[in-house]
Amino acid sequence: MSRILVTGGTGYIGTHVLAALSEAGHHAIPLDNFSNSSPAAAERLREITPRIAPPVEIDMRDRLGLASLLAREKVDAVIHLAGLKAVGESVEQPLRYYDNNVRGTVTLLQALADANVTRFVFGSSATVYSPEGTTPSTEQSAVGPTSPYGRTKRLVEQILEDTAAADPRWRIAVLRYFNPAGAHSSGVIGEHPRGVPNNLMPYVCRVAAGQLSRLQIFGNDYPTPDGTGVRDYIHVCDLAEGHVAALGVLEGIPAGEVLTANLGTGRGVSVKELIETFERVNGIAIARETVSRRPGDVAVYCANPEFAQSRLGWKARRSLEDICRDAWRYAERSAREKWP
Ligand code: NAD
Ligand code: UD1
Repeated sequence: MSRILVTGGTGYIGTHVLAALSEAGHHAIPLDNFSNSSPAAAERLREITPRIAPPVEIDMRDRLGLASLLAREKVDAVIHLAGLKAVGESVEQPLRYYDNNVRGTVTLLQALADANVTRFVFGSSATVYSPEGTTPSTEQSAVGPTSPYGRTKRLVEQILEDTAAADPRWRIAVLRYFNPAGAHSSGVIGEHPRGVPNNLMPYVCRVAAGQLSRLQIFGNDYPTPDGTGVRDYIHVCDLAEGHVAALGVLEGIPAGEVLTANLGTGRGVSVKELIETFERVNGIAIARETVSRRPGDVAVYCANPEFAQSRLGWKARRSLEDICRDAWRYAERSAREKWP
């Protein structure tokens, strides 16, 4: 059993990583500043998986706070998920994104190096790939993020590459997520965006719950089989298990190198197919209309997941049906029980 610090541990992906770590027999310690989450979800999870520590409230830009945590808690490795993630907001507030995501990570790495905690897994994004690159994306596809958010992700990847090259103590894995969706099958944790959701699945769930009147499909004239955008939706529990797999291979990464792997399924799903699957498995009609394309969207974003399979021994196991069923189980329950 290892003791794993999870930054952003009370967020959407973080809570699912806590669950996966616990299932794999690790002791997880969530850290968060609660800027986009609350301790409540992690506390609900703790009721069913008591091995998870209570969330620690620290901002990752607070080096003294991190140092004091690392002085009192033994930490074997860190899974770094803390960050701001809204593309549109990052265009309006780039300095806030660079400050939080880039400066925050630099501060975290400094505190970790001081405490000799040098096992590190970073939650990056497929958004680092250039929209002009090959799809399905392999880890060798051209990078070229198109938003300040995406650039913070790529900058952190480069900082990690430089850090590993300069200091042989580090063992670092970078995981590039495609489109995480769904929720833990217990229904106690899931995606809970504040305000009107930007992403497709949480929007579909709000329409299903009667909280929003209809879904807007952003464009049906893409060069895809049914004209709507195609993405690689990965069940968040599969994604979370990918982090456990990455922890398992960290020691084998040669000094000076960073292991970079896509976490996706390799299967492209259109907006239309996702809505129809959601309707079928949950027995709920989703009111929708087609509007023009959303600026900045691409037709197809899909992973080549072969490297993760061969190097991490990990593969997404859950289906689109599972994603739709689990997303709705959580959304319905959180709306009914008015979870914060
Ligand atoms: P989330 O907002 O639910 O979780 C991020 C957590 O980080 C939040 O709980 C937030 O309060 C915390 N946080 C933000 N700044 C912090 C700081 N300075 N100090 C401490 N905590 C801080 O988002 P998520 O979907 O769980 O995403 C987790 C990570 O995965 C992010 O880094 C995100 O960029 C990345 N990612 C997410 C997606 C996605 O679709 N959800 C896709 C690709 C990559
Ligand atoms: C978006 C971000 C990406 C981020 C990812 C996280 C943009 C341009 N990109 O990607 O950087 O990593 O979220 O999951 O914001 N759609 C609709 N109606 C909606 C919402 C979405 O039709 O109300 C469509 C989109 O046009 C797209 C698909 O659904 O074809 C998925 O959209 P979304 O969930 O926002 O994810 P991405 O655009 O892939």
